[in-house]
Amino acid sequence: MTDKLIIFDTTLRDGEQSPGASMTRDEKLRIARQLERLRVDVIEAGFAASSNGDFESVQAIARAVKDSTVCSLARANDRDIARAAEALKEANRARIHTFIATSALHMEKKLRMTPEQVLEQARQAVRFARNLVEDIEFSPEDGYRSDPDFLCRVIETVIAEGATTINVPDTVGYAIPELYGNFIKNLRERIPNSDKAIWSVHCHNDLGMAVANSLAGVKIGGARQVECTINGLGERAGNCSLEEVVMAVKTRRDYFGLDVGIDTQHIVAASRMVSQTTGFVVQPNKAVVGANAFAHASGIHQDGVLKARDTYEIMRAEDVGWSANKIVLGKLSGRNAFKQRLQELGVQLESEGEINVAFAKFKELADRKSEIFDEDILALVSDESVTSEKEQFGFVSLAQHSETGERPEATIVFTVDGKEVRSSSEGNGPVDASMKAIEAHVRSGAEMVLYSVNAISGSTESQGEVTVRLQSAGRVVNGVGADPDIVVASAKAYLSALNKLQSKAERVAAQG
Ligand code: KIV
Ligand code: ZN
Repeated sequence: MTDKLIIFDTTLRDGEQSPGASMTRDEKLRIARQLERLRVDVIEAGFAASSNGDFESVQAIARAVKDSTVCSLARANDRDIARAAEALKEANRARIHTFIATSALHMEKKLRMTPEQVLEQARQAVRFARNLVEDIEFSPEDGYRSDPDFLCRVIETVIAEGATTINVPDTVGYAIPELYGNFIKNLRERIPNSDKAIWSVHCHNDLGMAVANSLAGVKIGGARQVECTINGLGERAGNCSLEEVVMAVKTRRDYFGLDVGIDTQHIVAASRMVSQTTGFVVQPNKAVVGANAFAHASGIHQDGVLKARDTYEIMRAEDVGWSANKIVLGKLSGRNAFKQRLQELGVQLESEGEINVAFAKFKELADRKSEIFDEDILALVSDESVTSEKEQFGFVSLAQHSETGERPEATIVFTVDGKEVRSSSEGNGPVDASMKAIEAHVRSGAEMVLYSVNAISGSTESQGEVTVRLQSAGRVVNGVGADPDIVVASAKAYLSALNKLQSKAERVAAQG
């Protein structure tokens, strides 16, 4: 047993399965680079066989990432596994993560297979995968609710076929820390070849215990890999949160006695990048990455911290990447300074053309806002018009009028497949009018299920960051837009959501 804890990040796969959190290839690539900068050991880049878009994302990440292992999920069948191997072909280090459900409920109701058929399919899948890639992870889906005797047979079989990591998912977030830890301990003790694989935990947060369960799987069960996501992003209540699990193991090294390779100073930037990209806002009191995580409001606490920081702080804010909001650039900053700051923030734009577009946007922003913070720069490069990805809808300009006692109206100019269109509408407020103006032309018929505005850097001078969640034909997407004018930010967010909705990608769910 090694004393290194492997951090396996699945923000781009399980995290993305969260309704509305779908990301474009460029967005995923940017996050993957940040994960590499964080020194995540394994990046689960997607589920290559689920759609062409996912395949291309996994492929692009496999090409770009050099230090972390890049992994693709695959159901336990030859087609999925071959597709995963193909997408990972150019990776420095590649892993295939194959899975099949093993709980009685899933086998009978979902797969309509007998336990013997499931066992045989798991065996064949790992055998096939092992011929393509050396590093194979196997997950018995809904493992925690599976019959331990059957699970022992399946896991022993796949290890014998060459699986190198065994992951035990608590797919529905049903576990209790002590029980989950003992469940894994028991499996490891009963399976004769259990020492030939690294054991991994994968916990969902339905009862708010994903981090606690994962830590129990490590401490009691002896697992040496934790599967997690930035900000705990993931289906329903989410997955185990990377920042919490990593900081728990680091801060309480006295108890866990384990090393983690994560460069924690990049945690806050990663958290912001994921939240700005997906529109999933981080709650202020969220551990480690919430805006209040290191804020001391009560007089007694403030006094204590000023006298000796460790009276009330168990971690140092700067160790996880909280620096005072730095004014990094202003109106007079040049292209080189801008480019260098992008590099420091871990943003790698694909071409000089993209840097030029981003720089022009930066200059525009600096004309309207004297202090440009890191958050502004990250929001700016998240703007779809900066990246080379061709989107169907693009924002051009907006005029709106609102006055007490008058019905607000808005006129928006935007592009549809590169061609400019102009559309006007009235609405209950200027935001409503601008969305109605877009809808009057596009006629998507989508239902808006969420609208939220956030100030990026805390003051009224700040850029507003708007998230719009649309639902149509069973698909849910989030669009994000940022601008000092929140009506413009709203229109950008609406167009961004429409772009995601219109993308043809038909995806197969990992837990279908
Ligand atoms: O939660 C789960 O069971 C999964 C598997 C596909 C590993 O995400
Ligand atoms: Zn999962």
